[in-house]
Amino acid sequence: MKGKFIVFEGIDGSGKTTQINQLSKWLISTNLIPENNQLVITREPGGTELGKSIRSLLLDTSKTKSPDSITELLLYAADRSQHVNEIIRPTLNKGDWIISDRFCGSTLAYQGYGRKLDIKLIKDLENIATQGIYPDITFLLDIPVEESIKRRINRKEDRIEKEGREFLSNVSLGFQALSEDSKWKKISAINSKENIISEIQSEIKKLIKNK
Ligand code: TYD
Repeated sequence: MKGKFIVFEGIDGSGKTTQINQLSKWLISTNLIPENNQLVITREPGGTELGKSIRSLLLDTSKTKSPDSITELLLYAADRSQHVNEIIRPTLNKGDWIISDRFCGSTLAYQGYGRKLDIKLIKDLENIATQGIYPDITFLLDIPVEESIKRRINRKEDRIEKEGREFLSNVSLGFQALSEDSKWKKISAINSKENIISEIQSEIKKLIKNK
């Protein structure tokens, strides 16, 4: 039996890590995952050993030259291809569940709406990298751009986070559009932590019921 594939998307500072940890604790404490199966937590970029090297090429701020935007897109696609082949597909085929911090939606939002690269090109690369593997459910943790900036004020910024407010606003608009087109579950991530957690849990229960 195929496992479930859950993805979290959102702009930087939207609280994905916290919610992924909460959801994973809850899933482990319930019997929603079949007894002989496991839960795997992963992320993009950097979900594999090769991907960790790609992540540092993409996000390191110490390099004197940044990748140009097409190179950046190809690196995210390469990271995804390895991730799908090494982790996501084998995990799902075993019937195990997987939660990924970011997936294809991030490329459409950051490289498509942020960098303004051709959406058709992004989707072609997406098809090559995913080979038809798509999430069963995607959560968009939605926060205003100002809140994202406020939450990250004391954090060291990576190369993408350094792009600034206008870039982030475009990415945010991208996530809004994608969330509507692709029927993601949009969760207001400025609500209390308890409300966010319980909304996510109820969507997961619905997902299992409708399988
Ligand atoms: P993330 O791991 O969420 O950063 P952190 O762990 O520091 O919170 O994401 C890394 C950055 O990569 C983030 O700014 C978004 C960006 N990104 C893209 O631009 N395109 C993509 O396809 C993906 C997956 C991420």
